[in-house]
This record gives sequence, C-alpha cells and structure tokens, in this order.
Amino acid sequence: MTTGAPLPHDSALAHCTGAARFADDIPDPPGLLHAALVLSPVARAAGFALDDTGARAVEGFVALLDAAAIPARNDISPTGKGGEPLLADGPLRHHGQPLAMVLATTRDAALRAAAAVKVAPRDPAAPCLDIEDALAREDFLMPPQVIARGDAAAAIAAAPLTARGEFRAGGQEHFYLEGQVAIAVPEEDGSLAITSSTQHPTEVQHIAARILGCDFNRITVTCRRMGGGFGGKESNASWVAAAAALGARATGRPVKLRLARKADMAATGKRHPFLFRWQAGFDASGRILALEALLAADGGHSLDLTPGVVFRALTHALNCYDVPDVRLTALALRTDTVSHTAFRGFGGPQGVLLMEDVIRAVARATGLSPEAVRERNFAGAPNDARTPYGQALEGDLIRRVWAECMADSAWESRRAEIAAFNARHPFLRRGLGSFALAFGISFGVRHLNQAGALVHVYADGSIRLNHGGTEMGQGLNIKVAQVVAESFGVPLERIRVTATSTAEVPNTAPTAASTGSDLNGWAARNAALAIRGRMAEAASALWDVPPEAIAFEQGRVRVARPGDNRAMAFGALAHHCWLERISLSATGFYRTPDIHWDAKTMRGEPFFYFSYGAATAEVLVDRLTGEHRVLRADLVQDCGRSLNPAVDRGQIEGAFVQGLGWLTCEELVWDAEGRLRTLGPSTYKIPGSRDAPPDLRIRLLADAPARADTIFRSKAVGEPPLMLATAVWNALRDATGVERLDLPATPERVLMALMQEGAASPRP
Ligand code: MTE
Ligand code: HPA
Ligand code: MOS
Repeated sequence: MTTGAPLPHDSALAHCTGAARFADDIPDPPGLLHAALVLSPVARAAGFALDDTGARAVEGFVALLDAAAIPARNDISPTGKGGEPLLADGPLRHHGQPLAMVLATTRDAALRAAAAVKVAPRDPAAPCLDIEDALAREDFLMPPQVIARGDAAAAIAAAPLTARGEFRAGGQEHFYLEGQVAIAVPEEDGSLAITSSTQHPTEVQHIAARILGCDFNRITVTCRRMGGGFGGKESNASWVAAAAALGARATGRPVKLRLARKADMAATGKRHPFLFRWQAGFDASGRILALEALLAADGGHSLDLTPGVVFRALTHALNCYDVPDVRLTALALRTDTVSHTAFRGFGGPQGVLLMEDVIRAVARATGLSPEAVRERNFAGAPNDARTPYGQALEGDLIRRVWAECMADSAWESRRAEIAAFNARHPFLRRGLGSFALAFGISFGVRHLNQAGALVHVYADGSIRLNHGGTEMGQGLNIKVAQVVAESFGVPLERIRVTATSTAEVPNTAPTAASTGSDLNGWAARNAALAIRGRMAEAASALWDVPPEAIAFEQGRVRVARPGDNRAMAFGALAHHCWLERISLSATGFYRTPDIHWDAKTMRGEPFFYFSYGAATAEVLVDRLTGEHRVLRADLVQDCGRSLNPAVDRGQIEGAFVQGLGWLTCEELVWDAEGRLRTLGPSTYKIPGSRDAPPDLRIRLLADAPARADTIFRSKAVGEPPLMLATAVWNALRDATGVERLDLPATPERVLMALMQEGAASPRP
C-alpha cells in the first residue's frame, strides 16, 4: 500500500462542521410519526396490564402498539432461538424492558403519551441482580464452556507454591454520541425502507422480517454512518429498527424511533460484568505451572450475544501467556437486568484480566516484579507455544512489542524516580503498571467471517464503492477506499463510498470483531481486481500486448515494457471499455480462510491471526481520598503494515481512553429494586479529555509482520488497544499496594481497598 501524507478520516471535516448526516438529520418524510417506548417500571413480575387512557388524551396521539400488534414472531434473539421478545408478552424480566410503543405526530407528543401510559405489574418479585446470587441458584443462560489441557488440579497440588484469588469487573455503557435510532418508511407492495444506525444491517433486515412475517426481499436497510456503535449497535439496533418497522406496518406511515438517552441506557445492553475465581500453582522462579479458573459472566435476562462473549473471554483467559496445565470454566448467568451485549473487545477485555491477577499474586509470593513474572511466562518463542485450545501464538512478536514498550517507557529509571517520590511524599503515591496482549482476530461464529462488495467504474473513470461494512467513526470507509484506489492505481479522490445497504451487498456480517477492514477490504479488492482484469484485457487488445504487460498506476494505464511509452488516462480506458461493451461493474466476495473450531473438544484455530500490543502506565494516587489520575502511558500496538496510520493512531487513543473509563470511572449502579440509577452523564461518568493521560505516547510497531493473505499485510486495530488500559489497573495496584482491587477502580473503591487492607493512614 502506498503511504504518503496522513490520510484523515473521510468524514473528518463533515464531522467537525456538522455537515455529516446522521439518521436523525435526514429530513422528515411526509406523514412521519414519532415513536416512544413504554418501559417496565419493575425488574420482575409475573405479568402486567397497561392503561392507555392518559396517553390517548395527549394531542397528536395516534396509536399504542403492544405485543399483540406483532403480526408474526415476537422474537428479537440474534440466535433465532427465541426467548427474547421485542415487546413483553408475559413476565417482566428487567427494569426498562420495552412493553409497548406509542406513535404520535410529534416526538414530544409521543414521549408525553408514553409517559402517561399506566403500567400495573402483576405479582412483582424481588429481582436477582448479582452474579453470586445467580451462581448460588445455578441460574444459567447456557451450559458451561470449559477449555482444559493436562490435569490442572493435580498440577496445582504438586506445585511448590500456590495462590488463589477472586475479583470482579463491572459492566460498561456504550455511550455512543448518537443514540439508537431508526426510521422505517413504507414503500409499494408492503416493502419497507429502513434507515438504521446499526453495525449489522443484515440482522436488522432479518429481525424486521421476522417480526413482520415477510420475506427478506421486502426489507431494505441502509446505514450511511453511526455516531459510534462500540458493539452497542451490533444486536440492539435490530430491535429498535424492528419496532419502527412494526409501527410503519401498523399505520402505513413512516415511523421514526429515536431513543432518548435515558431510555437508551435503560433498555439497551451493556458490557458483561464478570466474577473471577482462580487457583494457581507455580514455582519460586515465577513460572506458572497450573491454573484453574472460573469466569462467570452476568448475561442479564436473556442470551443475546452472550455465547460469543463467553467464548472470547475463555479463549483470551491466558492471553499471551503459557500455562501447561489449565482448566478454565466459563459460565453465563441469568440476572434480572437488561441483556448484556457486545462491547469493544467482546469478552476479551474481561478474559485478559484473569492472568493479571494471577501474575500479581505470583509476584507477591515470589518477591519478583510482575514484569519479571510476565517475561517468565510469555508464550514460547518463536512460535512453539499453543493456546490451550490449540492455536499457535507468535512468541517472538509478543517479546518484541513488550521489549519496545519497556524501552519506550524508560521503565527502570522511572521505577527509581517513583520510589524516591513515594518515599518523600506523605500521602501521594505514584505507581507503574504494565500489560501485554495477544488478541485473536475473527468472529467466533464461523459464518460471520464473510464479506461482500459492489464496485462500479463509470465511463469517466470515477469509481463508486459499496461494501458490507458499516462506518461508525472507526475509519473503515477510507481504508476500503484506499484498497480500491490502490487496486486500480488511481488517486483516492476518484473513489466514492456510498451508504451500506442490504440492497447493494446482501447477507453481510456485522461490522464487529475488529474485522471490518480485513473482510470488506478483501471483498472490495476482489471486486476491483475483477474489473481491472477486464480493463487490462481491453487495453491489451488495443495495444496488442499481453494483459500482464498492462500496469495501472498514478491514474494512468500503461504498457509496462522498456521502450514502450504507450499510456492513457484511467478514465480514457474506462470510456473505451464502455464503447466496447465491457462490464465495468463487479461484486467481490471474501471469506476468511483456514479458521476452524470443534465445539465438542473445545479445540481449533478460531482466529485468522493475533494482534499484539503492550502498554505501561503511570498513575498518581491520593491515599487520603482514593482519587487518582494517569500521568503517562506508553503504548505499542501491532497493526501489521497499517493501512492508515493516522486512523489507527486515533483508534488506539480512543480505545485506550475507553478502556480507561471502563476500568477506572464508569460505574453502573442498580438499586435493590433492579432500577439502573446511572441513566445519564450526571451519574454515569465517562472519561473526559482531562482523564486522558497528559503524556500519551503511542507507537505502531515498526516492520510488523503479518500473514501474506491479510489485506495488504495489515492487521485489525479496532478493539485490541482498549485492553492496553489494563496497565492502569496494575499501576493502581502498584501505587496502593492493595491485593484485591475490583473494577472499576473508582476513587471510592481505591479508598475502600486501602482502608480494608489497613493502609489508608498516611505514613507518619
Ligand atoms: N471507533 C469509533 N470511532 N466508533 C466505534 O463505534 N467501535 C469499535 C471499533 N472502533 C468503534 C470504533 C468496535 S467495538 C469495533 S468491533 C470496531 O471498531 C469495528 O470496526 P472495524 O472492524 O472496522 O475496526
Ligand atoms: N466479536 C463481535 N461480535 C461477534 C463476535 C466477536 O468475536 N463473534 C460473534 N459476534
Ligand atoms: Mo465490536 S464489540 O466487535 O462491535
């Protein structure tokens, strides 16, 4: 891939000026109705009754639709297995569950009418809100998943040293700037055009069709861009759009459903909270010999994407470390909360916490530094260590990102500096923490690892590109456009990327698992190469040279032979092809090769490759208040040969700060009745610009190798750097010396941990 001046996000200017159109910016279609949801006021009840007298009195009220209005299946489950109603049709399962939808002529009227609907729950009961309670009841959403190798119990019993631990990690609200929104417009013959802020237009199509009981070809779903998704629009966008579709079908009028922030936070899933318990055997050198661990995920009231999240947590529980004898058990527990869902990292961020806790305990028991324990247990170099499920890790790359990060961080000299500071200061403590990562790239669900694209070259040589991925701010469109520009040898300005649509590229995967550019980049390249091949043949006929002698470069097509200067503009050849009746349009398709998984043995190679990273962080903690801040972070991220270093840098920065938020300040609080009390920015604290480390040093690993069959030897970047923020957790434990520090490590939690461990009082 040619690299020159940094290429900004294709909508950078439009985002900043407000010119970029989001779903709610589309001018209202004539006759538009606005929808608002009636949400459950209780977490758990046997049933409910609605009284809509008040709603009907609101001027502009048009209709109230409940489960009885659904013409076909009341099922929004991504798996299609059922048990996940769009609108409650029996028992109430969580506070904020959608019960009905009000349609009105204005959004204000819809919101007022929805608020005026009286909900009478029948036989309300105390909710189960906690992972431990659900564990005690053995209330599982799915059977346990176990990955085991060797005999962990025996190896722990035989080990010279042992340790055990338990900790928790909280959930996370996506807090995309643009909330969930969809507009459904009835067309001829019962067809519907849906504009949806979704990572997964194909699933919106499937679920709208399932709710309405129609063929997929009746539903067209379009998404030009999202104002952020972060996993929150992988499955949750589908039910929002299906609700709008239901309204449009019931009234014959266009319907827009845009969730207010509070409703969005109450009714859509979060990152899965987790509880971890483990026991390890190791020796005095810090070598971890055996590990038994339980990873218990709080899935909320229904399955949603939980199987995939649990799978990724489990396959990432050893991260980049090698432990010979292991037994890892992952559970998905049912609680009476909203159903938890995809969130950047998809169980990976939770999974990789496990070894961090183990490493700290081993360091404590052996007197080694956590960094020494890391190095002692990195998966083998160069490639001779396998994950317990049988996939090879590149030990040499792990060591490279780690060594470069340690060197960038000036680790040893800063350790000494920090020790001197801590000895001097009565109550401020600085701490250093590190982290290393191996993150598997591919969807855990095999059939999702496919993509399509549709490319047209017009007779003037301008190119229209459509691919199955969705743009959520991550810069997918510019990357795929770069791939197409490179394939035709034309400047980027000649490419126009158009809105994702199920009508242009069908049967797509969600844009998720960081695979957007890997999959759609290849699909688009395959389409471009098909057209280029035809154009090369036309040029070869014109110039009477073999097609292999035709080169596409710098907006021109030429004969690539010494002494032969024949050439023409790319547009001139396109025009020639048109006159010669040669097709200048092609679809492209791609499926990830080689990946496989055996669910019976829990063995396989589910990931196309691993993305590696390393980080260090320095924090400052006030021992009197528990307040803390990150002073500096050094990140090294492997992006292969980055398709777009400017975009990747933005992804790394954003992911790191989002990870920092999850681990240190974003806290979801449910009260005893199961009501989420953190329903907006005043109570739910996402990191702000001042929470980002003032000194944030990011480096893309130089000369990073990647498989030859990745797109231009690039690697995925969307999710992995979120996990690099784990270094901050370690830095906080280093600064405070506390053994157990649950997440998010808010100031309150840091202070409580200090007090519990009897260390809160300042040094005399
Ligand atoms: N970056 C921005 N700006 N907005 C987002 O919503 N989502 C993240 C990541 N980066 C997100 C983002 C998540 S969860 C994923 S899986 C990837 O982008 C998806 O896009 P990609 O596969 O093209 O990297
Ligand atoms: N990430 C995101 N979404 C998914 C995945 C994944 O790994 N697997 C299935 N859906
Ligand atoms: Mo990202 S959680 O895979 O949408």
